Amino acid sequence: MPLDDDPFERLLDFLEERKIRSKIPWARPVFRWAGSKRRMLPTLLAAMPEDYGRYIEPMVGSACLFFATRPRRGLLGDFNEELMHTYRAIRCHPRLVSRAASSWGDNSATYYEVRSLSAESLDPIQPAARFTYLNRYSFNGVYRTNKEGRFNVPRGRDTGSLPSEADSIGAR
Ligand SMILES: C[S@@+](CC[C@H](N)C(=O)[O-])C[C@H]1O[C@@H](n2cnc3c(N)ncnc32)[C@H](O)[C@@H]1O
Repeated sequence: MPLDDDPFERLLDFLEERKIRSKIPWARPVFRWAGSKRRMLPTLLAAMPEDYGRYIEPMVGSACLFFATRPRRGLLGDFNEELMHTYRAIRCHPRLVSRAASSWGDNSATYYEVRSLSAESLDPIQPAARFTYLNRYSFNGVYRTNKEGRFNVPRGRDTGSLPSEADSIGAR
């Protein structure tokens, strides 16, 4: 994809135009998400009021509007518990989550091995790293579970690379 077709580059241009780029510590969303509003960001940002109280987003998914606006006070929710757990873990331990996710290789055998790990653990880092890894390398970043609640999306192709440590720190 040529760089100027990249929605993030277009968003940066948009923020630059509105002279707010320097004031907002904008961060990339860390997750791929079906139904993400990232392509609509310029429209959504243009419709945002200048002043508002608390930012509330109850079905947050990839949180792309939240990351684009970085409100001082925000309340985020989603009924996807693994997603919310991972946001909380990244907020507290961005480097540890990023390093743990990067420790797994980008190949089919490892993908299915990571997928077979339990999403629950006493250690909060491992499930968050697993979610981050599977979100990146699954087919289209889709989140789907079977009747037992186990993630069952096959590996995707050309998925790009994991969010960098800097992306995770920026998302904090
Ligand atoms: C289309 S996605 C959100 C997209 C988000 N605006 C973005 O830009 O990534 C919808 C999200 O709503 C969540 N969701 C759906 N029904 C919900 C409910 N009843 N309560 C909380 N979250 C819900 C899903 O888990 C999913 O993450």
